Amino acid sequence: MKISQSFIEELKYRNKIDDVVSSYVDLKRAGSNKVGLCPFHSERTPSFTVFVNTETFKCFGCGAGGDVITFIMRAENLEYVSAVEFLAKRAGLEMPSDNEYKSELVKRSRIFDMNREAARFFNKMLYDPCAQEARSYLEKRKLSEAAVKRFGIGYAPKSFDSLRKHMHSLGYRDEELKEAFLCGKSTRTGNYFDYFRGRLIFPIIDNFGNVIAFGGRATDDETKPKYLNTSDTPVFKKSRNLFALNFARSACEEYLILCEGYMDVIAINIAGFPNAVATLGTALTSDQARIMAKYTKKVVISYDNDEAGQAAAKRAVPILSEAGLEVSVLKMKDAKDPDEYIKKFGAAKFRELINGSRGKFDFLFDTVIKKHNMDDPDGKVKAAKEICEIIAGIYSSVERSVYIAKAAQRLSVDEKSLKGDVDRIRRRLGRTENERQMQKIVSDAYGYSDRVNREAVGNTRAARAEENIIGLMLLRPELADKIKKGEYELCADDFKTSFGRKVFEAVEACEGKPDIGIIGADFTVDEMSRISDMQRRRADLAKNDETVLADSIRTLKEEKNSEGSGDELADALKIIQTKKNRQ
Ligand code: GTP
Ligand code: MN
Repeated sequence: MKISQSFIEELKYRNKIDDVVSSYVDLKRAGSNKVGLCPFHSERTPSFTVFVNTETFKCFGCGAGGDVITFIMRAENLEYVSAVEFLAKRAGLEMPSDNEYKSELVKRSRIFDMNREAARFFNKMLYDPCAQEARSYLEKRKLSEAAVKRFGIGYAPKSFDSLRKHMHSLGYRDEELKEAFLCGKSTRTGNYFDYFRGRLIFPIIDNFGNVIAFGGRATDDETKPKYLNTSDTPVFKKSRNLFALNFARSACEEYLILCEGYMDVIAINIAGFPNAVATLGTALTSDQARIMAKYTKKVVISYDNDEAGQAAAKRAVPILSEAGLEVSVLKMKDAKDPDEYIKKFGAAKFRELINGSRGKFDFLFDTVIKKHNMDDPDGKVKAAKEICEIIAGIYSSVERSVYIAKAAQRLSVDEKSLKGDVDRIRRRLGRTENERQMQKIVSDAYGYSDRVNREAVGNTRAARAEENIIGLMLLRPELADKIKKGEYELCADDFKTSFGRKVFEAVEACEGKPDIGIIGADFTVDEMSRISDMQRRRADLAKNDETVLADSIRTLKEEKNSEGSGDELADALKIIQTKKNRQ
């Protein structure tokens, strides 16, 4: 979907990047640029840079980059069009009313409408005679009428067309219902059918009160799968949303409680804690951590008590910390999850649990100690060693000494000898850190481990040439113009990687001066960082005349004609190996 180029130009003119960024970051002047602490990862020394001349930003720590629109996409967690709307509002601009943009908006609002109608229908059906089983299940789980009301819980009847019939009567078509994930289509017969059947329905609601998705739980403990959830749709990405954030965000100044399951969140909520959220059936993502960091400073992980839950908690700790959140982990006894705990012991006890929740290092200590037999000297030595490794990984020396003292006490060993071990590990880590960085440099240089452009592996020379060409087109519009006019015999088919091809096509399609703000609709924020890099890298170089363009085009054509040998990957691996051996 495209918003007109002239509108984007106006939008960017009225939203100067340093001005917009300074409401999020404390910027200091550094030559012609401005620098500050990156809002997208936690850091102590500023590596976030705003290039005022080119109206772009780049964090040299985490790699995020782009223009003012990409910045808002990241900072406000918005899709491209919504980020444009956000900036239009900020500058007092009226959004354009051209057709493609309009039709996307219409589609989205139609899905919101369908979802709201479906939620109403499901809720109504909960009181239908056919929902007897579902109601007794709610009773069994002690989900009161208050919970049903607050969360808009409903029931999808055991039928292939009850929702469809209802939605048809409201004028919605099967294809639309399928796009909203309310119905599926059999590949065998081509027939449409209700997606949720015989399930309790939990609507997922965004911060604006829109119903964006549904979770559907079986009404017994035998049916598999236990949950069916809406897949990603034009209005829903499960990796970027949290269940019950609509309630929690206005009640979580102090902390958020992060759970695994819908049922846990509901139980905790009803017990008087509106500040609970859950991921949507997948592991915690860094996007979700960033979203939480917008509303609170601290997260209390309240996962299930089983091994899977504790392992998931261990994985969640660094993701939350990296988003700048303080983390602690609940220690539950005699209950498998928060839902069961509250039912067994009550809300007051649960609050005590929260108040007594362990900081992340106590939690990690506990997981280590649990693994070893502490009555056995060997077990104790092993545990001490693992704990030293953890402490050695901490950046701050104050924190390190606090934890060394704590660990010494808990293991009842001498503090000095623990400190000696930690220091020794740090010296060794220092060396491996160099090694790691070296590998990263080599692999970055060779496009090995390239997540944005996977085909760059084994096609390094071509990918380089592609990036040069695109960078030049963005940097020097007159060269882009010449390419468009056919003065260079270069077309999208000459591009070897599909990412390069896609970017080239988008840049070529810009009317007038190509700009990353215009092509942003078709790319993810990570891809935008890369495209912005292509431009910035060229801008940093002295030589950017037509000979560079001609050379890059020639290289690309040569590469296109010789099929990828994969030799470069082998070379990269060889280099990594020799560097390792030299250590
Ligand atoms: P109860 O088991 O009824 O207490 O539900 P719960 O919400 O506590 O679920 P549980 O702890 O078992 O799982 C945590 C979350 O994982 C759920 O809320 C769902 O989002 C998701 N989940 C669980 N089982 C499935 C499944 O079979 N399929 C899918 N897609 N997601 C599931
Ligand atoms: Mn549960």
